[in-house]
Amino acid sequence: RCTESSKKAFFTEYVDINSTFYTQRAKNRRPGEPPLDKGLIPWLGHVLEFRRNTWRFLERMEKKHGDVFTVQLAGFYITFIQDPMSFGAFVKESREKLDFRKFASHLVRRVFGYIATKADHEMLNASSNRHLKGDGLEVMTQAMMINLQNLMLHNVDSSSDQVTWREEKLFAYCYNIVFRAGYLSLYEKDRAESEALYDEFRKYDQLFPRLAYGVLPPKKRREATKLLEYFWNVLSVQKLKGRDNISRWIWDVQEGKDNAGVKEDMITRYMFVLLWASQGNTGPSSFWLLLFLMKHPEAMRSEVKPGGPLVKMSREMLMKTPILDSAVEETLRLTAAPLLTRAVLQDMTLKMADGRQYFIRQGDRVALFPYSAIQMDPEIHPDPRSFKYDRFLNPDGSKKTDFYKAGNKVKYYTMPWGSGASMCPGRFFATNELKQFAFLMLLYFEFELINPNEEIPEIDYSRYGFGTMQPDRDLQFRYRRRY
Ligand code: HEM
Repeated sequence: RCTESSKKAFFTEYVDINSTFYTQRAKNRRPGEPPLDKGLIPWLGHVLEFRRNTWRFLERMEKKHGDVFTVQLAGFYITFIQDPMSFGAFVKESREKLDFRKFASHLVRRVFGYIATKADHEMLNASSNRHLKGDGLEVMTQAMMINLQNLMLHNVDSSSDQVTWREEKLFAYCYNIVFRAGYLSLYEKDRAESEALYDEFRKYDQLFPRLAYGVLPPKKRREATKLLEYFWNVLSVQKLKGRDNISRWIWDVQEGKDNAGVKEDMITRYMFVLLWASQGNTGPSSFWLLLFLMKHPEAMRSEVKPGGPLVKMSREMLMKTPILDSAVEETLRLTAAPLLTRAVLQDMTLKMADGRQYFIRQGDRVALFPYSAIQMDPEIHPDPRSFKYDRFLNPDGSKKTDFYKAGNKVKYYTMPWGSGASMCPGRFFATNELKQFAFLMLLYFEFELINPNEEIPEIDYSRYGFGTMQPDRDLQFRYRRRY
């Protein structure tokens, strides 16, 4: 029979209780606080169910407690706000009360062995503002264009491949090309090495969710450590300094840390954090985008005319694609599911849009899971499981931003990039990458699913909370050059 103590011994063997996540504290609900659901397992609370399928778990809690509730997850008390109209209370709260850094630094320490410093965020922001927006973005986008074309056309000989179809797995193909083109644009190294790096990255990628939850069995944990060492070697500051064409975004961050006296091995570790942040979501997103476009060819007819040579895609050109913009936004609505978390630094009152107020305790966490609260809400997005390429498009071709719930306009209607101070700094570049990839595929190749009637795969639920979701299986497709 499984006693409480043997159960706990079993779980703590896997859950890294020495981590800074660990806080042991009994807690009962006080008047004015949101409903509290601690779950049946001491300390762990609901973490197993949460990890298995975050969306389903939150739905169950919402049915039981309403749109605000506190749950216990691996020693933390986390209050979820599920009412989209009240998201402002989270997004706009001051950093003195709700801080995102504390949680992020726990995670990067656990997963990437990187010890965060106070100046990290400002330094990253400064470099991102210079190089992932405006003129800097154009430089990055052009580099991406060249790398994408080189990789896509490499090994595809125009004379023979015009007639011969090549068959590949769609997810593997998209992730490989977009990862490597992104890597070469940011870190510039040779094409052959980017292939090996991609293979190792995918291994780490597969371990990532369990690593983040601290539930990797020892053998897998050793594998993760080996992989980290591999990345620290390839991305070491010493090696990066020898490269001519490293992007300004990476260069500035590295130089800023160097000047601030951060040790070289920590800068190297940060280089992998950035590789992860910049490459972990874009590849999977490009797969979904391409798959949805294959299933809805009508979406592309008006914007991409196959057959014309296109080598340079300027910023203006990338800005004049309202249908593709809407298709990208719709892809991310359906497949990007980050968990947004803040640490509560002082006791505070959460003010809901309808006037309700809840007392939140210092030391707890507050979180949003926009995927369930907004992106899949059938009231805000009718028929939410369907891909509608023009969902974010007005009849006059402008971007649609008016979405309603119970007759009220919803300000936060999709949040693939997070929000507020921690919002993804790479979102403009990422959007361009996705558009460029889809554009070039349509331009250079004819492509189709081997089985055109094959259903869109389910998502792998264990990745909820970590950005763009991955499919639970791959699909065969084939492609050949148009000219
Ligand atoms: C489709 C692709 C992408 C998606 C869906 C995505 C999404 C996200 C999300 C949800 C966050 C966390 C936001 C939060 O906690 O509030 C984030 C953070 C971040 N992203 Fe992205 N991202 C993508 C591509 C990129 C690219 C291409 C880059 C860089 C070139 C990038 C760089 C970063 C960085 C550096 C952070 C950490 C920011 C910080 O610590 O403040 N991302 N991203």
